[in-house]
Amino acid sequence: MNISQTPEQTRALIAPLRGQRIALVPTMGCLHAGHISLIRKAKSLADVVIVSIYVNPLQFGENEDFNQYPRTFEKDADICKNEGVDIIFHPENLYPDNGAKVTLKVSDLSNILCGISRPSHFDGVVTVVNMLFNIIQPNIAIFGEKDWQQLAIIRRMVSDLHMPIEIIGSEIIRETDGLAMSSRNRYLSPSERQQSLALSQVMHLMKNNSQQGEKTSETIKYGIENLNNYNISLDYLEIRNELTLKPEHSITPESRIFIAVKVGKTRLIDNISLKMESEITS
Ligand code: PAJ
Repeated sequence: MNISQTPEQTRALIAPLRGQRIALVPTMGCLHAGHISLIRKAKSLADVVIVSIYVNPLQFGENEDFNQYPRTFEKDADICKNEGVDIIFHPENLYPDNGAKVTLKVSDLSNILCGISRPSHFDGVVTVVNMLFNIIQPNIAIFGEKDWQQLAIIRRMVSDLHMPIEIIGSEIIRETDGLAMSSRNRYLSPSERQQSLALSQVMHLMKNNSQQGEKTSETIKYGIENLNNYNISLDYLEIRNELTLKPEHSITPESRIFIAVKVGKTRLIDNISLKMESEITS
């Protein structure tokens, strides 16, 4: 496994591999089983797997956790090596010293859900993902469904900017008690860890309670009532169409629940499909 720290080194490492199918798995490190599942999917779909590890300053708001974000490169490199990754791209900084002057902007899909409380977050995400795509020029790139809105925005970027890259979504990996894995889970105290079960539990209650055709407002009301049993602060609980991200007024097989909460100081997000198990084909 090679580790490169600059775009130039990375391009030089990739040059002799062109012609093979190259997969990119972009991450911010602190790798967990969720990231590993993306790497394994990449291995199953491509000849060459590149993992990028970069805590991208541009996607963090002023009062967010950029400085605190866990950096565990040695451990991450061991994981990548064990998983058979070919190259880790681990740049120190991808922006000029005087900061990003050229950025991509997303309209529409970024002013809903997480975009409301994190207004410039998705601009920062697409700017860095675009850079990674330019440097690596992968054939495919794998993103987790855990960050469903991010995945939808990246699909949109690739389609609107005519990028020849196939975007693959990969299912959410959870702890055994249902909490979606996240690098931020390590911020949680033991009691907050307990409270964080609210996300998956409430979404499952909503799913069990919902019927096709039911008004989404009823399902959301039921979810919010249940959330009151947990001492957490709700950012949003919404049901939207999983393809368009437009609000849905009644439940259909394309309906998906989206939730974001703050447990103490830690922001957690999750989502599930409202498809009944019998309708899930893949
Ligand atoms: P990061 O939070 O490190 O996540 C990297 C990838 O892992 C993302 O595609 C994310 O959706 C996926 N992922 C995280 N937790 C997961 C889980 N429990 N199950 C499945 N997949 C999971 O997302 C980012 O970094 C950044 O925004 C990035 C795309 C790298 C741009 O900086």
